[in-house]
Amino acid sequence: MTRTSPQGVDLDCQRCPLARSRLQVVPGSGDPQARLMLVGEAPGASEDQGGEPFIGRAGSILDGALDEAGMSRERLWIANTVRCRPPENRTPRPAEIANCSFQLDAELGTVAPRVMIALGATAASALLGRPVSLKDEAGSVHRIRRAELDLRCVVTYHPAGIIYRPSARTNLVEDLTLAWELSQG
Ligand code: URA
Repeated sequence: MTRTSPQGVDLDCQRCPLARSRLQVVPGSGDPQARLMLVGEAPGASEDQGGEPFIGRAGSILDGALDEAGMSRERLWIANTVRCRPPENRTPRPAEIANCSFQLDAELGTVAPRVMIALGATAASALLGRPVSLKDEAGSVHRIRRAELDLRCVVTYHPAGIIYRPSARTNLVEDLTLAWELSQG
């Protein structure tokens, strides 16, 4: 029998080759009734070991930015475009993201947020279905329809990107604040 998370994520998924190198499938976490869902790229080594999204270095940066925006992860849902760690933390491939979209759809269907925030260009491109450049589109808000929901999607920087571009931290905090306000309105 296959195991699923309470939000319907297949924890024994074998749909793509990432299943062969992962330690475990990493489902989303947080408030299962959250109005705001954060979507990152893919689990890294810490998440592959711990089984939760954003618990490594990028997670500490995210927690700091959330704190500065007056938010906390307990009030959000945090997920990724793919649920298995890509080898050597490479960027997930479009086919892997497409294969894994049923996992995000399962969480969208049960959590039913109003707003999503795409953390980084990979997540933004996956959610908007076209290439996204953060330089041009960070801070922008889009309407998307997915999993039978009408959602707004805010594009912002990935917390790991802040390591190389510290000035983007202000943008991340502002975009988190904007997404939170939209989700509560
Ligand atoms: N980076 C991501 O995009 N997601 C995680 O869960 C951790 C790091």
